[in-house]
Amino acid sequence: MKTVLSALLLVTSLVAVPTASGAASLMDWGRHVAEAGNGRPGSTACMECHRLDGGGMPSIGAPRIAGQPEQYIAREIREVKAGKRYGPVMAGVVQNLSPRDIRAVALYYSHAKSPKLPDVGPPDPVLVAEGEHIATRGLWKKNIPACVQCHGPNGYGVPPLFPFIAGQNRTYLLRQLMAYAFLKRQDDPQGLMRGIARRLTMTQRKAVAEYFSSLKPPVRDVP
Ligand code: HEC
Ligand code: HEC
Repeated sequence: MKTVLSALLLVTSLVAVPTASGAASLMDWGRHVAEAGNGRPGSTACMECHRLDGGGMPSIGAPRIAGQPEQYIAREIREVKAGKRYGPVMAGVVQNLSPRDIRAVALYYSHAKSPKLPDVGPPDPVLVAEGEHIATRGLWKKNIPACVQCHGPNGYGVPPLFPFIAGQNRTYLLRQLMAYAFLKRQDDPQGLMRGIARRLTMTQRKAVAEYFSSLKPPVRDVP
């Protein structure tokens, strides 16, 4: 009995060890790609625009990706690579990423933590107030639900399908809303975001971008 038990323990530890180290090395490889690229010609390190901690770069509208759901990050990269998602800057970066590279960086950045980075200039209080109204109450006359119904309380996201938008930089947020409204970004399930963004006026798009960028990012993603 004792030998059967120790044999069993030995088997489980043999099975468990490679799985654990496999996960660790995928994470390590993700960090490597983020820091230095994958070594293939033309490869770019993600940290040049998203920082190693995933905080993004407000000055060029590169999004915060720290703590975004793993499946969401991987999906967005695959869609850009397949030409299905709008990503004028990312399109040139993702072409030589292998499926494993994509899984690895998605794993790495979904676990990254970053403080909120200062946006370009202070938020406009009038736009923030208008944005808060739309975000939390919606615009029923225009058939626009409250943003937080899908993006979660405080815009913290509902993994794996609904990304966080709180604490995201305003340039990125506004660009995405414009891209949905003018049908450049078309990868959203059931055209949900295209419909919503199209029904907002230009000022209302600015207002929600201003509101969500003024919020703190999800606490779980801040060190
Ligand atoms: C030269 C700057 C640059 C580099 C390098 C770069 N990105 Fe991006 N990334 C952007 C910009 C800008 C966007 C917004 C879409 C666009 O304009 O292409 C973006 C968008 C994204 C998104 C979509 C986020 C969302 O919320 O939908 C993900 C995920 C992403 N990048 C991951 C990566 C990863 C992983 C790498 C490294 C393999 C990388 N990026 C390298 C600039 C960059
Ligand atoms: C019915 C659900 C739903 C509602 C309501 C909704 N969204 Fe979204 N939103 C989504 C989904 C799903 C995605 C991811 C789509 C994709 O992959 O392109 C998304 C993506 C986004 C993105 C892109 C995020 C990124 O990181 O690339 C922004 C910005 C955004 N939504 C803003 C808003 C704002 C502002 C409102 C309120 C005016 C709103 N959303 C209301 C479902 C919704």
